Amino acid sequence: MERAPSAVHLGANDLPFVDIGGGNLLRVLQVFPTENVWITENIFMKDFESPMHMHTGSVWGHTFSGSWKYVESDFVNRAGSFLFEPASSVHTLKILEDNTHVRWHIHGANLNIDAEGSIASIVFGKARLDTYLKLCEEQGFARPPVLVL
Ligand SMILES: [Fe+2]
Repeated sequence: MERAPSAVHLGANDLPFVDIGGGNLLRVLQVFPTENVWITENIFMKDFESPMHMHTGSVWGHTFSGSWKYVESDFVNRAGSFLFEPASSVHTLKILEDNTHVRWHIHGANLNIDAEGSIASIVFGKARLDTYLKLCEEQGFARPPVLVL
C-alpha cells in the first residue's frame, strides 16, 4: 500500500528573519516557483510604507502582532486579523506600530506602481526567494530550509 506524503513542519525559529532595511525583517517559508505561490513573513517597524501595488492573484494576510493598514482603506489589521486581498486589488501598506508581524500567502505577482500609474517593478515568488537567500548569505545565516516545490 502506498503511503501518503508526510507533512512538513517548520518550527517558529527554523527560518531566520533577514533585515531588508530600517530594521524591517523578512523570511520566506515556502515557494511554488512554477505556480508563483509564495508564503512569507515580515516584522515591520512603525512608518514603513510599501510602494502602491496591484496583485495579479489573491493574497491572504494573517497578523500576529502590531498594527497596519492600507492608506486607501479605514480598517486596521491587528493581532488575530484575517485579511483577503482579491486579485487585481491595489493598495499601499502602512505600518502603525513597531514589531508588526504579518504572514502573507500570495498567489501571483505584486506589480509596484509609480506616481504616474506605471509599473515600476514586479515582485514574484522566485524573485522573493532569491532576495531572501542572498540576504541570508550576506547577513551570516546558514542556507535556510525554505520549502521549494
Ligand atoms: Fe498587497
